[in-house]
Amino acid sequence: MKFFVDTADIKEIRDLAATGMLDGVTTNPSLVAKSGRDFFEVLKEICAVVTGPVSAEVTATDAAGMIKEGEKLTKIAKNICIKVPLTWDGLKACKHFTSNGTMVNVTLCFSAAQALLAAKAGATFISPFVGRLDDIGQDGMQLISDICTMYSQYDYFKTEVLVASIRNPVHIIDAALMGAHVATIPPSVLRQLINHPLTDKGLEVFLADWQKTGQKIA
Ligand code: G3P
Repeated sequence: MKFFVDTADIKEIRDLAATGMLDGVTTNPSLVAKSGRDFFEVLKEICAVVTGPVSAEVTATDAAGMIKEGEKLTKIAKNICIKVPLTWDGLKACKHFTSNGTMVNVTLCFSAAQALLAAKAGATFISPFVGRLDDIGQDGMQLISDICTMYSQYDYFKTEVLVASIRNPVHIIDAALMGAHVATIPPSVLRQLINHPLTDKGLEVFLADWQKTGQKIA
């Protein structure tokens, strides 16, 4: 499973990239606003740190406007992935970009029907938002399971399932068990993945016992 980080915070991205676990980055207008940075500057910095896909979202709502914005965004770096919303205009723009070999992430997906359309538009990634579905009392992970099953019926669907709006490590594990290709994870949740009290306790005991031997390795 690929790990993307869902943030526009360059400090967090640098820190997590150093673990060697980072396969890409997703941003959205809300995350850029939160960073307080210039959109183009921050995207350029992110693309220099991470070699994998870096999603940059368009803000136009018509296909022609999305294509114009997307073309400007692709000039930032080779690894820019254009992010478009799941609307008919977004799907038109998606088809335009993927037909020309540019990566596209279709975002704001909340149904299997929408995911089917994105695959038919040749999307590189489909982003179903699991947390936001859970928030309104629906089962976000059921949607991931449905999309994975649906896509696996057709060899010619190349769209990767990018699980978004992740709130906790259980979302990631369940997504991995379902065979989702990518999880885009908030930095705080990514760091939680390593936690286990028995690891901490075990290490404490090993180190205390080692100290009793009075030996040194190096
Ligand atoms: O980047 C899209 C998605 O991951 C947003 O998550 O937490 O705002 O629902 P959230």
